[in-house]
Amino acid sequence: MEIMKNLRLGASILILSILLVTNSLEVEAKTCKPSGHLKGKKPPPGQCNTGNDSECCVQGKLYTTYDCSPTVTINTKAVLTLNSFEKGRDGGGPSECDSKYHSDTKPIVAVSTGWYHKGSRCLKNITISGNGRKVNATVVDECDSTIGCDAEHDYQPPCPNNIVDGSKAVWEALGVRRDDWGELDITWTDA
Ligand SMILES: *[C@@H]1O[C@H](CO)[C@@H](O)[C@H](O)[C@H]1NC(C)=O
Ligand SMILES: *[C@@H]1O[C@H](CO)[C@@H](O)[C@H](O)[C@H]1NC(C)=O
Ligand SMILES: *[C@@H]1O[C@H](CO)[C@@H](O)[C@H](O)[C@H]1NC(C)=O
Repeated sequence: MEIMKNLRLGASILILSILLVTNSLEVEAKTCKPSGHLKGKKPPPGQCNTGNDSECCVQGKLYTTYDCSPTVTINTKAVLTLNSFEKGRDGGGPSECDSKYHSDTKPIVAVSTGWYHKGSRCLKNITISGNGRKVNATVVDECDSTIGCDAEHDYQPPCPNNIVDGSKAVWEALGVRRDDWGELDITWTDA
């Protein structure tokens, strides 16, 4: 009798574990859907910095927002963009991870909100592969996919959910010709 009870208990625990595992796998694999939209406000005169292909919000235009990003794998697809992390440049306020500005001569990045993951990747390295090369870059900032079109974000639209926004040092390390800096399809993973 005792053995039967233990067997039944064992079987229940096994089934429960299988249910839990498949359930969490489903959650993991769920595709990332938009969280909403925001309506563009016109930047005050002389406010939006259009350097380095930065886009300025357009009055009345609807921008899609996300609070998730695609699942991170060993080669997560992303779009690399160019950002300055120095004061008074196109990056807006100081970096989210440490409230500081950073030199663009260091390989540093901002990543979309879902990948920023409430700061859990802050000051950690990711390995970026692109243009046939690899570079380790430190996450210092969030490329906010949930808000935008305000002073804090230099009156730029919310970030797409698949962005790795790198300093010029990242582009240099990948050996991309300066004329081609702007947008590049890359893959990345946690270093
Ligand atoms: C564009 O990026 C380069 C390289 O990071 C930087 O030196 C320059 O100041 C940036 N331009 C603007 C307008 O922010
Ligand atoms: C990136 O960092 C990892 C872990 O420290 C290391 O194994 C790898 O060689 C580094 N890659 C590059 C391109 O520096
Ligand atoms: C992170 O990457 C930076 C830039 O490539 C490198 O200098 C630093 O040593 C790396 N840190 C770790 C812990 O691998």
